[in-house]
Amino acid sequence: MKKAAKQPAKSKSSAKPAAKPAAKPAAKSAAKPAAAESMNLTENASGQNWTLPVMSGTLGPKVIDVRKLYGDTDYFTYDPGFTSTASCQSKITFIDGDKGILLHRGYDIVDLAEKSDSMEVAYLLLNGELPNLQQKTKFEYDISRHTMVHEQIQFFYRGFRRDAHPMAIMCGVVGGLAAFYHDSLDINDPHQRMVASYRLIAKMPTLAAMAYKYSLGQPFIHPRNDLKYAENFLHMMYAVPAEEYKISPVLSRAMERILILHADHEQNASTSTVRLAGSSGANPFACIAAGIASLWGPAHGGANEAVLNMLHEIGDKKRIPEFIKRAKDPKDNFRLMGFGHRVYKNYDPRAKIMQRTTREVLNELGVKDDLLDVALELERIALHDDYFIEKQLYPNIDFYSGITLKAMNFPTAMFTVLFAVARTVGWIAQWKEMIEDQGSRIGRPRQLYTGEKQRDYVPMSKR
Ligand code: ACO
Repeated sequence: MKKAAKQPAKSKSSAKPAAKPAAKPAAKSAAKPAAAESMNLTENASGQNWTLPVMSGTLGPKVIDVRKLYGDTDYFTYDPGFTSTASCQSKITFIDGDKGILLHRGYDIVDLAEKSDSMEVAYLLLNGELPNLQQKTKFEYDISRHTMVHEQIQFFYRGFRRDAHPMAIMCGVVGGLAAFYHDSLDINDPHQRMVASYRLIAKMPTLAAMAYKYSLGQPFIHPRNDLKYAENFLHMMYAVPAEEYKISPVLSRAMERILILHADHEQNASTSTVRLAGSSGANPFACIAAGIASLWGPAHGGANEAVLNMLHEIGDKKRIPEFIKRAKDPKDNFRLMGFGHRVYKNYDPRAKIMQRTTREVLNELGVKDDLLDVALELERIALHDDYFIEKQLYPNIDFYSGITLKAMNFPTAMFTVLFAVARTVGWIAQWKEMIEDQGSRIGRPRQLYTGEKQRDYVPMSKR
């Protein structure tokens, strides 16, 4: 360990030098910290020792409070990918990845998916409690009154190529909303925050369906306030002016499930992006656009689309062993899309529910599709393969949502868009929580610099 350049601070901060050097290195002292809620950190080279406060939440691992570490010790912590770092305090969602538990405001996702609906879950995430009947009715009414978009917004769409990826359109158009709704941009006004939140939740399905309709060259379909949130989305996606569109109850139930299961997932990449963007005081439309950009990647929300692309590449059940072999080969970059998760080292509880929904949709629609056969066979093989069992690589929610959306006739490029529609409420709830947290500060990570040390400028003639 490199010796600290700076002496530890005296007594002004919480990370004070401990009275006596710890007998054991810091990692070992974890079992018996010096005080009940603290931990010792020892610089082995010098024997210098600091006591760090430990904080406890209501559930989950305790955290070592390193906020004053740099000021007191001249050390940073190093944690690329944030595998061990809590970036905030939150009351919204709890995940126990080892046990496969996911709670929203304390309610189990399995209960919510089976007994609740997407608007109730949205209210819960935003407000912390399940709504009573009156609150729910008002919330649904308020959301339904914000579903239309400014007429000028359609001209944004016309600026895109017809074959533009709908996520590219969403990144642009959602950020562009800030140019239209000036009366909800003051993040310090609770009423404006609420209006912006409702607008985003209400308008996302409209904007997503418009992106789809634009790609087809069909007219945009206006929202209908008499329909439920999921039904209205299906209506805007699939209705045409020339005939009546009947909403299948199977499809609307599946859509409800997809919305609930994707609503929030604590501090994942896109949510952290929303928080980081919002920490500078940026307006909520810009922050959600940043979340959409982060979600797009194949290691995150783009995985459901990547699953389908992979299934196309595999093409036939006979080729599955070849792809399993590639996924296991450390020299090959190929991964089985829709398998594995950063947090869940057990079956993702959402994946289990989604698996049931997938089966329901396939049975009730009677869909026959070679790619779906490939997917189900892939799932069967991977669940029995030693490599995947050993590394705890279970199918994740994106694996099943990809298959379900395919069966529901969603074009592959729209899969991640649908995820963004569903996740908007989670992003908004997390953004709102951050703004309302008096202790939150602009997000500004540190780094371990490994580049050149300071050197003299070399004139062009000497290079
Ligand atoms: N196929 C094959 N091997 C895999 C896979 C996979 N899908 N996922 C992980 N592994 C292997 C890795 O090669 C690594 O092996 P090693 O220990 O021999 O080096 C080990 O399992 C651990 O993988 P990491 O990449 O360290 O795990 P991490 O937590 O960083 O990544 C991630 C998680 C990104 C989800 C990863 O599993 C993955 O790329 N999966 C495919 C993409 C996907 O489905 N993403 C959706 C995530 S869910 C969501 O966003 C809603």
